[in-house]
Amino acid sequence: MSTPQDILLIGVGVMGQGIAQVAAQAGHRVFLFDQLEGAAAKAREKIAATFDKLVAKGKLTRADTDATLARLVPIATLADGRSALLAIEAVVERLDVKHSLFQQLEDLLPEGAILATNTSSISVTAIGAGLKRPERLVGMHFFNPAPLMKLVEVVHGLRTDVAIATQVEQLARAWGKTPVHARSTPGFIVNRIARPYYAEALMLLQERALAPEQLDALLRGAGFRMGPCELMDLIGLDTNYAVTQTVFAANFYDRRFTPSLVQRELVEGGLYGRKSGQGFYRYPEGAPALTPCASTALAPGRGIEVHGSGAVASLLAEAAREHGVTHARASAWTGVQVGALQLRQTDGRPAWQIAQSEGVAHVAVFDELPTTAGGAIAFAAAHPQDAAQAAGVLAALGWQPVQMADAPGLAVARTLAMLVNEAADAVLQGVCTPDGADAAMKLGVNYPAGPFEWLQRLGRARVVHLIEALDACYRGERYRVSPWLRRGETT
Ligand code: NAI
Repeated sequence: MSTPQDILLIGVGVMGQGIAQVAAQAGHRVFLFDQLEGAAAKAREKIAATFDKLVAKGKLTRADTDATLARLVPIATLADGRSALLAIEAVVERLDVKHSLFQQLEDLLPEGAILATNTSSISVTAIGAGLKRPERLVGMHFFNPAPLMKLVEVVHGLRTDVAIATQVEQLARAWGKTPVHARSTPGFIVNRIARPYYAEALMLLQERALAPEQLDALLRGAGFRMGPCELMDLIGLDTNYAVTQTVFAANFYDRRFTPSLVQRELVEGGLYGRKSGQGFYRYPEGAPALTPCASTALAPGRGIEVHGSGAVASLLAEAAREHGVTHARASAWTGVQVGALQLRQTDGRPAWQIAQSEGVAHVAVFDELPTTAGGAIAFAAAHPQDAAQAAGVLAALGWQPVQMADAPGLAVARTLAMLVNEAADAVLQGVCTPDGADAAMKLGVNYPAGPFEWLQRLGRARVVHLIEALDACYRGERYRVSPWLRRGETT
Protein backbone atom coordinates (compact mmCIF):
# COMPACT_ATOMS: atom_id res chain seq x y z
CA MET A 1 0.00 0.00 0.00
CA SER A 2 1.33 3.44 -0.85
CA THR A 3 1.88 5.95 1.94
CA PRO A 4 -1.07 8.35 2.10
CA GLN A 5 -0.25 11.81 0.88
CA ASP A 6 0.29 14.87 3.01
CA ILE A 7 -2.70 17.12 3.53
CA LEU A 8 -2.75 20.82 4.24
CA LEU A 9 -5.70 21.89 6.38
CA ILE A 10 -6.36 25.62 6.47
CA GLY A 11 -8.63 27.10 9.13
CA VAL A 12 -8.76 24.96 12.23
CA GLY A 13 -12.03 26.09 13.80
CA VAL A 14 -14.98 23.80 14.48
CA MET A 15 -14.89 22.09 11.10
CA GLY A 16 -11.17 22.19 10.32
CA GLN A 17 -10.35 20.47 13.58
CA GLY A 18 -12.82 17.67 12.93
CA ILE A 19 -11.63 17.14 9.36
CA ALA A 20 -7.98 17.12 10.48
CA GLN A 21 -8.79 14.44 13.03
CA VAL A 22 -10.52 12.28 10.40
CA ALA A 23 -7.63 12.61 7.94
CA ALA A 24 -4.93 11.93 10.54
CA GLN A 25 -6.82 8.89 11.82
CA ALA A 26 -6.87 7.62 8.24
CA GLY A 27 -3.06 7.74 8.22
CA HIS A 28 -2.28 11.06 6.55
CA ARG A 29 0.21 13.57 7.81
CA VAL A 30 -1.87 16.73 8.23
CA PHE A 31 -0.35 20.20 8.31
CA LEU A 32 -2.53 22.53 10.36
CA PHE A 33 -2.56 26.21 9.48
CA ASP A 34 -4.67 29.04 10.81
CA GLN A 35 -4.23 32.78 10.42
CA LEU A 36 -4.81 33.16 14.13
CA GLU A 37 -1.47 32.66 15.85
CA GLY A 38 -1.40 29.65 18.15
CA ALA A 39 -4.75 28.34 16.84
CA ALA A 40 -3.17 25.37 15.06
CA ALA A 41 -1.36 24.18 18.19
CA LYS A 42 -4.50 24.70 20.24
CA ALA A 43 -6.54 22.67 17.74
CA ARG A 44 -4.08 19.81 18.13
CA GLU A 45 -4.43 20.04 21.93
CA LYS A 46 -8.20 19.88 21.62
CA ILE A 47 -7.97 16.78 19.44
CA ALA A 48 -5.60 15.27 22.01
CA ALA A 49 -8.17 15.97 24.75
CA THR A 50 -10.87 14.25 22.65
CA PHE A 51 -8.56 11.26 22.23
CA ASP A 52 -7.96 11.11 26.02
CA LYS A 53 -11.69 10.69 26.55
CA LEU A 54 -11.94 8.01 23.87
CA VAL A 55 -8.98 6.11 25.35
CA ALA A 56 -10.58 6.33 28.82
CA LYS A 57 -13.77 4.84 27.37
CA GLY A 58 -11.75 2.06 25.74
CA LYS A 59 -12.71 3.14 22.22
CA LEU A 60 -9.13 3.86 21.10
CA THR A 61 -5.73 2.68 22.27
CA ARG A 62 -3.08 5.06 23.54
CA ALA A 63 -0.63 3.73 20.93
CA ASP A 64 -3.07 4.61 18.15
CA THR A 65 -3.84 8.07 19.42
CA ASP A 66 -0.14 8.85 19.97
CA ALA A 67 0.59 7.85 16.38
CA THR A 68 -2.33 9.92 15.09
CA LEU A 69 -1.27 12.98 17.10
CA ALA A 70 2.27 12.67 15.72
CA ARG A 71 0.76 13.05 12.25
CA LEU A 72 -0.91 16.36 13.15
CA VAL A 73 1.66 19.04 12.47
CA PRO A 74 0.90 22.69 13.31
CA ILE A 75 2.70 25.02 10.91
CA ALA A 76 3.43 28.73 11.21
CA THR A 77 3.21 29.72 7.55
CA LEU A 78 1.28 28.34 4.60
CA ALA A 79 4.59 27.71 2.83
CA ASP A 80 5.48 25.10 5.47
CA GLY A 81 2.75 22.91 3.98
CA ARG A 82 3.97 23.14 0.41
CA SER A 83 4.53 19.39 0.02
CA ALA A 84 0.81 18.64 0.35
CA LEU A 85 -1.02 17.08 -2.58
CA LEU A 86 -4.39 17.95 -1.13
CA ALA A 87 -5.40 21.20 0.54
CA ILE A 88 -8.72 21.45 2.36
CA GLU A 89 -9.87 24.85 3.50
CA ALA A 90 -12.33 25.43 6.33
CA VAL A 91 -11.81 29.16 6.80
CA VAL A 92 -14.45 31.81 7.27
CA GLU A 93 -17.46 31.55 4.90
CA ARG A 94 -16.50 34.45 2.61
CA LEU A 95 -15.98 34.26 -1.13
CA ASP A 96 -13.20 36.87 -1.22
CA VAL A 97 -11.23 35.15 1.55
CA LYS A 98 -11.57 31.68 0.05
CA HIS A 99 -10.79 32.93 -3.42
CA SER A 100 -7.56 34.67 -2.48
CA LEU A 101 -6.51 31.70 -0.34
CA PHE A 102 -6.81 29.35 -3.32
CA GLN A 103 -4.87 31.77 -5.51
CA GLN A 104 -2.03 31.57 -2.98
CA LEU A 105 -2.28 27.79 -2.77
CA GLU A 106 -2.08 27.40 -6.54
CA ASP A 107 1.28 29.11 -6.54
CA LEU A 108 2.52 27.22 -3.54
CA LEU A 109 1.51 23.59 -3.99
CA PRO A 110 2.69 21.06 -6.59
CA GLU A 111 0.86 21.43 -9.90
CA GLY A 112 -0.98 18.14 -9.42
CA ALA A 113 -2.40 19.11 -6.02
CA ILE A 114 -6.15 18.96 -5.40
CA LEU A 115 -7.80 22.03 -3.89
CA ALA A 116 -10.86 21.34 -1.76
CA THR A 117 -13.28 23.71 -0.06
CA ASN A 118 -15.53 22.86 2.85
CA THR A 119 -17.85 25.76 2.04
CA SER A 120 -21.45 25.11 3.03
CA SER A 121 -23.07 27.69 0.81
CA ILE A 122 -20.71 29.44 -1.59
CA SER A 123 -20.67 28.41 -5.24
CA VAL A 124 -17.66 26.24 -6.05
CA THR A 125 -17.78 27.68 -9.57
CA ALA A 126 -17.49 31.20 -8.13
CA ILE A 127 -14.56 30.27 -5.88
CA GLY A 128 -12.80 28.74 -8.88
CA ALA A 129 -13.30 31.77 -11.14
CA GLY A 130 -9.98 33.38 -11.97
CA LEU A 131 -7.88 30.47 -10.70
CA LYS A 132 -5.18 29.18 -13.03
CA ARG A 133 -6.39 25.62 -12.62
CA PRO A 134 -10.09 25.79 -11.68
CA GLU A 135 -10.51 22.18 -12.79
CA ARG A 136 -8.58 21.09 -9.70
CA LEU A 137 -10.98 22.81 -7.28
CA VAL A 138 -13.74 20.70 -5.74
CA GLY A 139 -16.16 21.01 -2.84
CA MET A 140 -15.61 18.57 0.03
CA HIS A 141 -18.47 19.43 2.33
CA PHE A 142 -18.31 17.71 5.72
CA PHE A 143 -21.03 17.82 8.36
CA ASN A 144 -20.70 18.81 11.96
CA PRO A 145 -19.22 17.04 13.92
CA ALA A 146 -16.97 15.80 11.12
CA PRO A 147 -15.54 12.78 12.98
CA LEU A 148 -19.05 11.42 13.61
CA MET A 149 -21.12 12.42 10.60
CA LYS A 150 -20.74 9.99 7.73
CA LEU A 151 -21.77 12.25 4.88
CA VAL A 152 -19.43 14.18 2.60
CA GLU A 153 -21.01 16.12 -0.26
CA VAL A 154 -18.51 16.13 -3.10
CA VAL A 155 -19.44 19.24 -5.01
CA HIS A 156 -18.33 19.97 -8.52
CA GLY A 157 -18.43 23.42 -10.05
CA LEU A 158 -18.82 24.07 -13.76
CA ARG A 159 -15.10 23.68 -14.36
CA THR A 160 -14.26 20.92 -11.88
CA ASP A 161 -12.60 17.95 -13.56
CA VAL A 162 -14.71 14.80 -13.12
CA ALA A 163 -11.53 12.82 -12.38
CA ILE A 164 -10.71 15.16 -9.48
CA ALA A 165 -14.21 14.79 -8.01
CA THR A 166 -13.87 11.03 -8.35
CA GLN A 167 -10.52 11.01 -6.55
CA VAL A 168 -11.99 13.01 -3.69
CA GLU A 169 -14.93 10.63 -3.52
CA GLN A 170 -12.56 7.68 -3.25
CA LEU A 171 -10.59 9.43 -0.56
CA ALA A 172 -13.72 10.20 1.46
CA ARG A 173 -14.69 6.55 1.20
CA ALA A 174 -11.24 5.50 2.39
CA TRP A 175 -11.79 7.74 5.41
CA GLY A 176 -14.91 5.79 6.31
CA LYS A 177 -17.29 8.41 4.94
CA THR A 178 -20.14 8.13 2.45
CA PRO A 179 -19.54 10.57 -0.38
CA VAL A 180 -22.51 11.86 -2.33
CA HIS A 181 -22.03 13.71 -5.55
CA ALA A 182 -23.62 17.16 -5.85
CA ARG A 183 -23.68 19.87 -8.47
CA SER A 184 -22.72 23.31 -7.20
CA THR A 185 -26.16 24.83 -6.68
CA PRO A 186 -27.39 26.87 -3.69
CA GLY A 187 -27.45 24.75 -0.54
CA PHE A 188 -26.03 21.75 -2.44
CA ILE A 189 -28.13 18.75 -1.37
CA VAL A 190 -28.73 18.73 2.38
CA ASN A 191 -29.08 22.43 3.09
CA ARG A 192 -31.48 22.74 0.19
CA ILE A 193 -33.69 19.70 0.68
CA ALA A 194 -33.92 20.34 4.44
CA ARG A 195 -35.40 23.85 4.02
CA PRO A 196 -39.07 22.72 4.13
CA TYR A 197 -38.48 20.95 7.44
CA TYR A 198 -38.07 24.38 9.00
CA ALA A 199 -40.22 26.38 6.56
CA GLU A 200 -43.40 24.34 7.04
CA ALA A 201 -43.02 24.46 10.82
CA LEU A 202 -42.51 28.22 10.73
CA MET A 203 -45.49 28.67 8.42
CA LEU A 204 -47.74 26.74 10.82
CA LEU A 205 -46.43 28.74 13.76
CA GLN A 206 -47.09 31.96 11.91
CA GLU A 207 -50.70 30.86 11.44
CA ARG A 208 -50.81 29.92 15.12
CA ALA A 209 -51.98 26.48 14.01
CA LEU A 210 -50.33 24.77 16.97
CA ALA A 211 -47.64 25.25 19.62
CA PRO A 212 -43.90 24.52 19.11
CA GLU A 213 -43.95 21.62 21.57
CA GLN A 214 -46.88 20.07 19.67
CA LEU A 215 -45.04 20.39 16.36
CA ASP A 216 -41.93 18.82 17.83
CA ALA A 217 -43.89 15.91 19.31
CA LEU A 218 -45.59 15.31 15.96
CA LEU A 219 -42.39 15.24 13.92
CA ARG A 220 -40.75 13.02 16.53
CA GLY A 221 -43.77 10.73 16.18
CA ALA A 222 -42.93 10.55 12.48
CA GLY A 223 -39.46 9.24 13.34
CA PHE A 224 -37.34 12.42 13.29
CA ARG A 225 -34.82 12.54 16.13
CA MET A 226 -35.67 16.14 16.84
CA GLY A 227 -38.67 18.25 15.98
CA PRO A 228 -38.09 21.40 13.90
CA CYS A 229 -38.33 23.88 16.77
CA GLU A 230 -36.00 22.08 19.15
CA LEU A 231 -33.63 21.53 16.22
CA MET A 232 -33.62 25.23 15.27
CA ASP A 233 -33.00 26.06 18.94
CA LEU A 234 -30.00 23.71 18.85
CA ILE A 235 -28.56 24.92 15.54
CA GLY A 236 -29.13 28.52 16.57
CA LEU A 237 -32.01 30.55 15.14
CA ASP A 238 -29.47 33.08 13.81
CA THR A 239 -27.49 30.44 11.91
CA ASN A 240 -30.59 28.73 10.56
CA TYR A 241 -32.05 32.08 9.49
CA ALA A 242 -28.77 33.01 7.77
CA VAL A 243 -28.74 29.78 5.75
CA THR A 244 -32.37 30.33 4.75
CA GLN A 245 -31.59 33.85 3.63
CA THR A 246 -28.57 32.68 1.65
CA VAL A 247 -30.55 29.98 -0.16
CA PHE A 248 -33.40 32.47 -0.79
CA ALA A 249 -31.09 35.13 -2.27
CA ALA A 250 -29.04 32.60 -4.22
CA ASN A 251 -32.23 31.40 -5.93
CA PHE A 252 -33.04 34.91 -7.14
CA TYR A 253 -35.61 35.26 -4.37
CA ASP A 254 -37.71 32.30 -5.45
CA ARG A 255 -40.66 32.58 -3.06
CA ARG A 256 -40.47 28.89 -2.32
CA PHE A 257 -37.50 29.70 -0.07
CA THR A 258 -38.98 32.81 1.57
CA PRO A 259 -37.68 33.22 5.12
CA SER A 260 -40.12 33.47 8.01
CA LEU A 261 -41.27 36.49 9.98
CA VAL A 262 -41.52 34.29 13.07
CA GLN A 263 -37.86 33.38 12.80
CA ARG A 264 -36.77 36.92 11.98
CA GLU A 265 -38.48 38.26 15.07
CA LEU A 266 -36.78 35.70 17.30
CA VAL A 267 -33.40 36.57 15.77
CA GLU A 268 -34.02 40.31 16.07
CA GLY A 269 -34.87 39.79 19.72
CA GLY A 270 -31.62 37.94 20.36
CA LEU A 271 -33.56 34.73 21.03
CA TYR A 272 -31.12 32.41 19.29
CA GLY A 273 -32.05 29.19 21.05
CA ARG A 274 -29.93 27.15 23.43
CA LYS A 275 -26.86 29.33 23.12
CA SER A 276 -28.70 32.45 24.28
CA GLY A 277 -30.88 30.68 26.84
CA GLN A 278 -34.11 31.17 24.93
CA GLY A 279 -35.51 30.49 21.49
CA PHE A 280 -38.78 28.67 20.93
CA TYR A 281 -38.19 27.34 24.44
CA ARG A 282 -36.40 28.51 27.56
CA TYR A 283 -33.23 26.67 28.64
CA PRO A 284 -32.24 24.58 30.47
CA GLU A 285 -35.91 23.61 30.82
CA GLY A 286 -36.53 22.96 27.12
CA ALA A 287 -39.94 22.08 25.70
CA PRO A 288 -42.89 22.01 28.12
CA ALA A 289 -44.88 18.77 28.40
CA LEU A 290 -47.78 18.37 25.97
CA THR A 291 -51.17 19.30 27.37
CA PRO A 292 -53.48 16.36 26.63
CA CYS A 293 -56.36 17.42 24.40
CA ALA A 294 -59.99 16.98 25.45
CA SER A 295 -61.09 13.51 24.53
CA THR A 296 -64.26 11.43 24.78
CA ALA A 297 -63.38 7.80 25.45
CA LEU A 298 -64.64 5.37 22.85
CA ALA A 299 -67.52 3.38 24.37
CA PRO A 300 -66.67 -0.32 24.83
CA GLY A 301 -67.90 -2.45 21.98
CA ARG A 302 -68.29 0.54 19.69
CA GLY A 303 -67.37 -0.73 16.25
CA ILE A 304 -64.75 1.01 14.17
CA GLU A 305 -65.27 0.81 10.46
CA VAL A 306 -62.10 1.03 8.37
CA HIS A 307 -62.32 2.71 4.98
CA GLY A 308 -59.98 2.30 2.05
CA SER A 309 -57.33 -0.19 1.11
CA GLY A 310 -53.56 -0.26 1.14
CA ALA A 311 -50.93 -0.01 3.83
CA VAL A 312 -52.55 2.72 5.93
CA ALA A 313 -55.95 1.00 5.94
CA SER A 314 -54.24 -2.24 7.03
CA LEU A 315 -52.45 -0.46 9.87
CA LEU A 316 -55.73 1.13 10.97
CA ALA A 317 -57.50 -2.24 10.89
CA GLU A 318 -54.68 -3.73 12.93
CA ALA A 319 -54.89 -0.91 15.48
CA ALA A 320 -58.70 -1.16 15.64
CA ARG A 321 -58.82 -4.93 16.03
CA GLU A 322 -59.47 -5.01 19.76
CA HIS A 323 -62.38 -2.60 19.32
CA GLY A 324 -63.99 -4.82 16.74
CA VAL A 325 -63.47 -3.72 13.19
CA THR A 326 -66.81 -3.87 11.42
CA HIS A 327 -64.96 -4.53 8.20
CA ALA A 328 -62.61 -2.81 5.91
CA ARG A 329 -64.53 -1.43 3.00
CA ALA A 330 -63.68 0.02 -0.34
CA SER A 331 -63.93 3.77 -0.15
CA ALA A 332 -62.84 6.93 -1.92
CA TRP A 333 -61.01 7.89 1.25
CA THR A 334 -58.76 6.18 3.79
CA GLY A 335 -59.55 6.33 7.48
CA VAL A 336 -62.05 5.15 10.06
CA GLN A 337 -65.70 5.80 10.82
CA VAL A 338 -67.34 5.62 14.21
CA GLY A 339 -71.08 6.24 14.04
CA ALA A 340 -71.59 9.34 11.92
CA LEU A 341 -68.05 10.67 12.43
CA GLN A 342 -65.65 10.17 9.56
CA LEU A 343 -61.96 10.40 10.45
CA ARG A 344 -60.06 10.67 7.20
CA GLN A 345 -56.36 10.64 6.63
CA THR A 346 -55.51 14.05 5.20
CA ASP A 347 -55.30 14.33 1.43
CA GLY A 348 -54.23 17.93 1.90
CA ARG A 349 -57.70 19.45 2.09
CA PRO A 350 -58.77 20.92 5.42
CA ALA A 351 -61.68 19.17 7.14
CA TRP A 352 -64.00 22.14 6.60
CA GLN A 353 -63.43 21.91 2.87
CA ILE A 354 -64.34 18.21 2.81
CA ALA A 355 -67.44 18.93 4.89
CA GLN A 356 -68.47 21.68 2.51
CA SER A 357 -67.64 20.13 -0.85
CA GLU A 358 -68.88 16.62 -0.03
CA GLY A 359 -71.71 17.55 2.31
CA VAL A 360 -70.33 15.40 5.17
CA ALA A 361 -71.89 16.49 8.47
CA HIS A 362 -69.24 15.12 10.83
CA VAL A 363 -65.70 14.90 9.57
CA ALA A 364 -62.19 15.23 10.97
CA VAL A 365 -58.81 14.73 9.30
CA PHE A 366 -55.74 13.12 10.78
CA ASP A 367 -52.07 13.20 9.83
CA GLU A 368 -49.57 10.54 8.72
CA LEU A 369 -49.64 7.60 11.11
CA PRO A 370 -46.84 7.79 13.70
CA THR A 371 -44.01 5.34 13.22
CA THR A 372 -43.85 4.60 16.94
CA ALA A 373 -46.53 3.08 19.15
CA GLY A 374 -48.14 5.79 21.24
CA GLY A 375 -46.66 8.51 19.03
CA ALA A 376 -48.31 11.91 18.65
CA ILE A 377 -50.71 12.35 15.74
CA ALA A 378 -52.29 15.61 14.59
CA PHE A 379 -55.96 15.98 13.79
CA ALA A 380 -58.42 18.74 13.03
CA ALA A 381 -62.21 18.61 13.03
CA ALA A 382 -64.51 20.54 10.70
CA HIS A 383 -66.82 21.33 13.61
CA PRO A 384 -65.53 21.93 17.16
CA GLN A 385 -68.16 19.64 18.69
CA ASP A 386 -66.58 16.62 16.91
CA ALA A 387 -63.03 17.21 18.20
CA ALA A 388 -63.28 15.33 21.49
CA GLN A 389 -64.77 12.26 19.82
CA ALA A 390 -62.09 12.31 17.11
CA ALA A 391 -59.43 12.51 19.82
CA GLY A 392 -61.06 9.56 21.61
CA VAL A 393 -60.96 7.41 18.47
CA LEU A 394 -57.28 8.20 17.79
CA ALA A 395 -56.42 7.47 21.43
CA ALA A 396 -58.32 4.17 21.22
CA LEU A 397 -56.21 3.28 18.18
CA GLY A 398 -53.10 3.73 20.33
CA TRP A 399 -51.82 7.20 19.46
CA GLN A 400 -51.56 10.47 21.30
CA PRO A 401 -54.01 12.88 19.65
CA VAL A 402 -52.85 16.47 19.14
CA GLN A 403 -55.55 18.89 18.06
CA MET A 404 -54.39 21.64 15.74
CA ALA A 405 -55.99 24.26 13.52
CA ASP A 406 -57.63 22.96 10.37
CA ALA A 407 -54.58 23.74 8.21
CA PRO A 408 -54.08 22.04 4.84
CA GLY A 409 -51.91 18.92 5.04
CA LEU A 410 -51.77 19.21 8.87
CA ALA A 411 -48.18 18.97 10.16
CA VAL A 412 -46.33 15.80 9.14
CA ALA A 413 -48.01 15.14 5.79
CA ARG A 414 -47.28 18.62 4.47
CA THR A 415 -43.70 18.53 5.75
CA LEU A 416 -42.95 15.18 4.15
CA ALA A 417 -44.64 16.19 0.89
CA MET A 418 -42.59 19.36 0.69
CA LEU A 419 -39.33 17.54 1.50
CA VAL A 420 -40.11 15.07 -1.29
CA ASN A 421 -40.98 17.93 -3.64
CA GLU A 422 -37.74 19.77 -2.96
CA ALA A 423 -35.75 16.58 -3.46
CA ALA A 424 -37.60 15.92 -6.72
CA ASP A 425 -36.68 19.39 -7.97
CA ALA A 426 -33.04 18.80 -6.99
CA VAL A 427 -33.04 15.61 -9.05
CA LEU A 428 -34.80 17.36 -11.93
CA GLN A 429 -32.04 19.95 -11.98
CA GLY A 430 -29.30 17.32 -11.88
CA VAL A 431 -28.06 18.35 -8.42
CA CYS A 432 -28.02 14.74 -7.25
CA THR A 433 -29.59 11.35 -7.88
CA PRO A 434 -32.55 9.99 -5.85
CA ASP A 435 -30.20 7.57 -4.08
CA GLY A 436 -27.78 10.42 -3.42
CA ALA A 437 -30.56 12.53 -1.92
CA ASP A 438 -31.70 9.67 0.33
CA ALA A 439 -28.17 8.96 1.55
CA ALA A 440 -27.45 12.66 2.07
CA MET A 441 -30.54 13.32 4.19
CA LYS A 442 -30.11 10.20 6.30
CA LEU A 443 -26.39 10.66 6.88
CA GLY A 444 -26.09 14.45 6.86
CA VAL A 445 -29.06 15.34 9.07
CA ASN A 446 -30.11 11.95 10.47
CA TYR A 447 -33.52 11.82 8.79
CA PRO A 448 -35.33 8.57 9.56
CA ALA A 449 -35.80 7.95 5.82
CA GLY A 450 -34.77 9.57 2.59
CA PRO A 451 -37.20 11.71 0.56
CA PHE A 452 -37.46 9.10 -2.19
CA GLU A 453 -38.17 6.41 0.38
CA TRP A 454 -41.04 8.57 1.61
CA LEU A 455 -42.18 9.01 -1.96
CA GLN A 456 -42.32 5.25 -2.26
CA ARG A 457 -44.34 5.01 0.94
CA LEU A 458 -46.75 7.88 0.30
CA GLY A 459 -47.15 7.31 -3.39
CA ARG A 460 -46.61 9.88 -6.08
CA ALA A 461 -50.31 10.71 -6.47
CA ARG A 462 -50.70 11.41 -2.75
CA VAL A 463 -47.68 13.72 -2.66
CA VAL A 464 -48.99 15.63 -5.68
CA HIS A 465 -52.49 15.91 -4.12
CA LEU A 466 -51.06 17.17 -0.85
CA ILE A 467 -49.04 19.91 -2.54
CA GLU A 468 -51.90 20.86 -4.85
CA ALA A 469 -54.17 21.23 -1.83
CA LEU A 470 -51.58 23.46 -0.15
CA ASP A 471 -51.33 25.51 -3.31
CA ALA A 472 -55.10 25.80 -3.58
CA CYS A 473 -55.16 27.16 -0.06
CA TYR A 474 -52.22 29.56 -0.12
CA ARG A 475 -51.74 30.37 -3.80
CA GLY A 476 -48.38 31.72 -4.92
CA GLU A 477 -45.19 29.98 -5.86
CA ARG A 478 -44.35 28.23 -2.64
CA TYR A 479 -46.40 25.12 -3.20
CA ARG A 480 -45.74 24.27 -6.81
CA VAL A 481 -45.41 20.65 -7.72
CA SER A 482 -42.05 19.63 -9.13
CA PRO A 483 -42.36 18.68 -12.81
CA TRP A 484 -40.31 15.61 -11.90
CA LEU A 485 -43.20 14.38 -9.73
CA ARG A 486 -45.76 15.18 -12.39
CA ARG A 487 -43.77 13.20 -14.92
CA GLY A 488 -44.32 10.20 -12.73
CA GLU A 489 -40.74 9.06 -12.61
CA THR A 490 -39.94 7.03 -9.56
CA THR A 491 -36.31 6.28 -10.15
P1 NAI B 1 -14.83 28.66 12.56
O1 NAI B 1 -15.08 30.11 12.72
O2 NAI B 1 -15.03 27.76 13.71
O3 NAI B 1 -13.33 28.45 12.02
C1 NAI B 1 -12.75 29.19 10.99
C2 NAI B 1 -11.25 29.24 11.23
O4 NAI B 1 -10.62 29.76 10.06
C3 NAI B 1 -10.84 30.15 12.38
O5 NAI B 1 -9.97 29.45 13.22
C4 NAI B 1 -10.17 31.33 11.71
O6 NAI B 1 -9.13 31.88 12.49
C5 NAI B 1 -9.63 30.69 10.45
N1 NAI B 1 -9.43 31.58 9.32
C6 NAI B 1 -10.25 32.55 8.85
N2 NAI B 1 -9.74 33.12 7.75
C7 NAI B 1 -8.56 32.49 7.50
C8 NAI B 1 -7.57 32.60 6.49
N3 NAI B 1 -7.68 33.49 5.52
N4 NAI B 1 -6.51 31.78 6.55
C9 NAI B 1 -6.38 30.88 7.53
N5 NAI B 1 -7.29 30.72 8.52
C10 NAI B 1 -8.36 31.52 8.49
O7 NAI B 1 -15.74 28.22 11.32
P2 NAI B 1 -16.36 26.78 10.97
O8 NAI B 1 -17.70 26.66 11.54
O9 NAI B 1 -15.34 25.73 11.23
O10 NAI B 1 -16.56 26.95 9.38
C11 NAI B 1 -15.49 26.90 8.48
C12 NAI B 1 -16.01 26.59 7.10
O11 NAI B 1 -16.73 25.35 7.11
C13 NAI B 1 -17.01 27.61 6.55
O12 NAI B 1 -16.80 27.71 5.18
C14 NAI B 1 -18.35 27.01 6.87
O13 NAI B 1 -19.36 27.47 6.02
C15 NAI B 1 -18.06 25.54 6.64
N6 NAI B 1 -18.93 24.60 7.34
C16 NAI B 1 -19.34 24.81 8.63
C17 NAI B 1 -20.16 23.89 9.27
C18 NAI B 1 -20.58 24.09 10.67
O14 NAI B 1 -21.50 23.38 11.14
N7 NAI B 1 -19.99 25.00 11.43
C19 NAI B 1 -20.63 22.67 8.57
C20 NAI B 1 -20.07 22.50 7.25
C21 NAI B 1 -19.29 23.45 6.66
